[in-house]
Amino acid sequence: MRMSAAALNYRDLIIPMRGYGRRMQDLPLILLSDGVGIVDAMGDGVSSVALGDRVCPIFYQTWLAGKPSNETMLSSLGCEQDGTMSDYMVLPAEGVCHVPSHLSDFEAATLPTAAVTSWRALVTEGGLKGGDRVLLQGTGGVSLFALQFAKSLGAHVIITSSSDKKLARARELGADETINYTTDPQWGRSVKAMTDEAGVDHVIEVGGAGTLEQSLRAVRTGGTISMIGVLSGSEPRIPLGQVVTRHVRLQGITVGSRADFESMSAHIAGQRLRPVVDSVFPFEALRDAMDYLVTGQHFGKICISHAGQMANN
Ligand SMILES: NC(=O)c1ccc[n+]([C@@H]2O[C@H](COP(=O)([O-])OP(=O)(O)OC[C@H]3O[C@@H](n4cnc5c(N)ncnc54)[C@H](OP(=O)(O)O)[C@@H]3O)[C@@H](O)[C@H]2O)c1
Repeated sequence: MRMSAAALNYRDLIIPMRGYGRRMQDLPLILLSDGVGIVDAMGDGVSSVALGDRVCPIFYQTWLAGKPSNETMLSSLGCEQDGTMSDYMVLPAEGVCHVPSHLSDFEAATLPTAAVTSWRALVTEGGLKGGDRVLLQGTGGVSLFALQFAKSLGAHVIITSSSDKKLARARELGADETINYTTDPQWGRSVKAMTDEAGVDHVIEVGGAGTLEQSLRAVRTGGTISMIGVLSGSEPRIPLGQVVTRHVRLQGITVGSRADFESMSAHIAGQRLRPVVDSVFPFEALRDAMDYLVTGQHFGKICISHAGQMANN
């Protein structure tokens, strides 16, 4: 693959700062898991792609379908394997997927990690259907994809943010109700009030220790909390009895499989969805892009141009 663009995820900050457990490969390591490129050369016997096709590498190179295993968890890009910050990548044919043709390279580059995570949480594991009520935490990459998927599948979306300005933008993208989690720290109760005290069917949990207690308040009996991120810590103090007595499903999510990418991609193409791109940095300015990600000012994905241009969308 001749790479044309890449995109950042929160994980890309953690890996250089403190590593990623025992799984990380020895240094040097090529960073980032999101990207897109063109098939530039092929081995004998490859029929699933052709020269010149535009493809994304999948996040877990060996997780093709079904449930993950210990082995598939050891094949992620930008961690156990070299990632997308390179001019060329050499991957097995099953490790890449075609991308919807209506997307720009920057939009397509955002798909492998945050988008597949949201799709797996809401659709593959969550079985989301029209009329379901969904609570999304914050306006980061995972939550904005979840917003687009949930709305396009007919769900009712409540989203939180620390910023009223970002909440206004989330409304423009279709969010039905918004909560500022800074000015309303007991937002679990507010979600209950917004749902006639029933609670939501699904929660996209990216906060972790600082948010799980409120999520438990907000979810309905029998609902699902997708455990995706631990932005505010990983050791929560929560009333576990509520998980039991209210039959709550705590579902760990770790991105998804090739099959998840393909079904998501078909949905994005069918609905003509467009990932939200916040900004584009040239390849040489990866560090500036990461510093910008740390500030949390972004709304949508921060992309990298392998051709060197810089643009703001
Ligand atoms: N398990 C997986 O498969 C998987 C995949 C992708 C990402 N993740 C994880 O999911 C998390 C989000 O990733 P991302 O790429 O979407 O990050 P991101 O684009 O950097 O977004 C982070 C956003 O989260 C919100 N946030 C921060 N602290 C919060 C809190 N205490 N309560 C509610 N919202 C909070 C903020 O939104 P506002 O600015 O609107 O307040 C912030 O902008 C990270 O922990 C990441 O490692 C996990």
